[in-house]
Amino acid sequence: MFRLENKFALVTGAGSGIGAAIAETFARAGAFVFVTDRDEKSGAETTTRIRAQDGEAEFLALDVASEAGCEQVARHVHERKQRLDILVNNAGIGHVGTMMQTTGTDLDRIYAVNVRGIFNVTKVFLPSMLACRSGNIINLASIGGVVAVRDRLAYCTTKFAVVGLTKSLALDHAKEGIRANCICPGRVETPFVAARLKEYPDPQKAYDEMASTQALGRMARPEEIAAAALYLASDESAFITGTAFLIDGGWTAGK
Ligand SMILES: NC(=O)c1ccc[n+]([C@@H]2O[C@H](COP(=O)([O-])OP(=O)(O)OC[C@H]3O[C@@H](n4cnc5c(N)ncnc54)[C@H](O)[C@@H]3O)[C@@H](O)[C@H]2O)c1
Repeated sequence: MFRLENKFALVTGAGSGIGAAIAETFARAGAFVFVTDRDEKSGAETTTRIRAQDGEAEFLALDVASEAGCEQVARHVHERKQRLDILVNNAGIGHVGTMMQTTGTDLDRIYAVNVRGIFNVTKVFLPSMLACRSGNIINLASIGGVVAVRDRLAYCTTKFAVVGLTKSLALDHAKEGIRANCICPGRVETPFVAARLKEYPDPQKAYDEMASTQALGRMARPEEIAAAALYLASDESAFITGTAFLIDGGWTAGK
């Protein structure tokens, strides 16, 4: 099994769903995890669960859309541990709608978290990673960053940007000890999907349709995405950088 002993990791949006599963998986693998989320209650709960399993974690409130908040968190992490080995940019929000159903304000709101948020957090940790000539960045993109998903214009726009940002980062800093990859999940059973389902007139019908877009006929569990994050975070994946790792239950294998 992949191990992360003596590694310091930070996960954004770790109060819920995929981020919570990644934080718990990393702690079980031996990492010290800075659990961050803009929602203090859920972030603190993830931290409590990790400690209850004898893992090491500390909660820090962080809205990734706030540059000042990112700088404050980076200062704290560097004071506590002097370096960060693994950064998981997981925080993200969704939006249902075609171009006609999406306002400029909708696009700005989702971009501020899904793209600018990743930029903000990476910007404050990259200098120390470069100084250490070692850093591992994992960004949560989506299947919607590789192929278009119907009625998700703003979301897909931001997730294609996440793939571009990740590949650029990987290429620019490959020779300086930095790896950057993104994970592109199909649908994963989390509160994120539950929130989208509420926007449909018949949520059960929408759930069944969403499950059936995966060739496997079901949604993923958050732990199945966390397992891939663990591999990317580990030294065993040392030759992987700049990739968009699809975990889509066969969604894009064919029609
Ligand atoms: N669930 C899916 O089907 C799915 C599929 C593909 C990609 N993703 C991506 O995976 C990531 C996690 O999704 P999830 O399903 O676990 O979502 P979720 O809604 O269950 O959890 C997201 C977490 O991010 C936090 N968050 C939101 N905005 C934030 C901000 N500005 N700053 C800090 N924290 C913030 C929320 O408080 C929440 O705890 C997202 O980037 C999402 O786009 C999800």
